Amino acid sequence: MQEAAPPGPIGLVLEPEAIRERVTDIGAQITRDYAGRSPLLIGVLKGSVMFLADLVRAIDLPVRVDFMAISSYGEGGHSGVVRILKDLSASIESDDVILVEDIIDTGLTVTYLLATLRARQPRSLEVCALLDKSVRRIIEVPIRYKGFDIPDEFVIGYGLDHQGRYRNIRSIIGIRDLDSLTENPEAIVAPYV
Ligand code: IMP
Ligand code: MG
Repeated sequence: MQEAAPPGPIGLVLEPEAIRERVTDIGAQITRDYAGRSPLLIGVLKGSVMFLADLVRAIDLPVRVDFMAISSYGEGGHSGVVRILKDLSASIESDDVILVEDIIDTGLTVTYLLATLRARQPRSLEVCALLDKSVRRIIEVPIRYKGFDIPDEFVIGYGLDHQGRYRNIRSIIGIRDLDSLTENPEAIVAPYV
């Protein structure tokens, strides 16, 4: 048995090729499931932008895209109360809606969004999440399409940020020590840019 490596600042790493493969798979799955239809993919700004941009190009259907921007109230953004900063640009009534999220953590944000969207009477409503930090879940979320299950680590890259930065890193990397990221970001992030 090998000893686990000593804990460093970096935890999990999902490299661009692994992300691309999963996104391609999910796109193919959506293409099959929605054959003959024109699903509306709703991206939650800003974290889901990279994922959504790659996902729509992996779907071989006449998809449509819209965006919502939200902000969370409360400590750490986990009060479950969400304010809509930018709403959808059109009605979703009778649409086949797929809500596209970067990551589901406690599940509070997506639960609020699902209730808001369901009230607008889409024909169908499903969740597509790139990352699932399921150990942190407070409220159960029906995730129809999922990229990766991840452990309880703060992740950055491929759209995910820490204080607005690092969205443009091509890999997804888990940061075990957020202090060292704040103190010396270049040293930690440089190998992955
Ligand atoms: P939830 O309401 O706890 O599920 O929070 C979901 C939101 O919190 C996500 O859409 C992200 O914006 C943010 N978030 C949760 N975990 C992380 C992380 O590890 N890195 C970056 N953002 C995160
Ligand atoms: Mg988000």
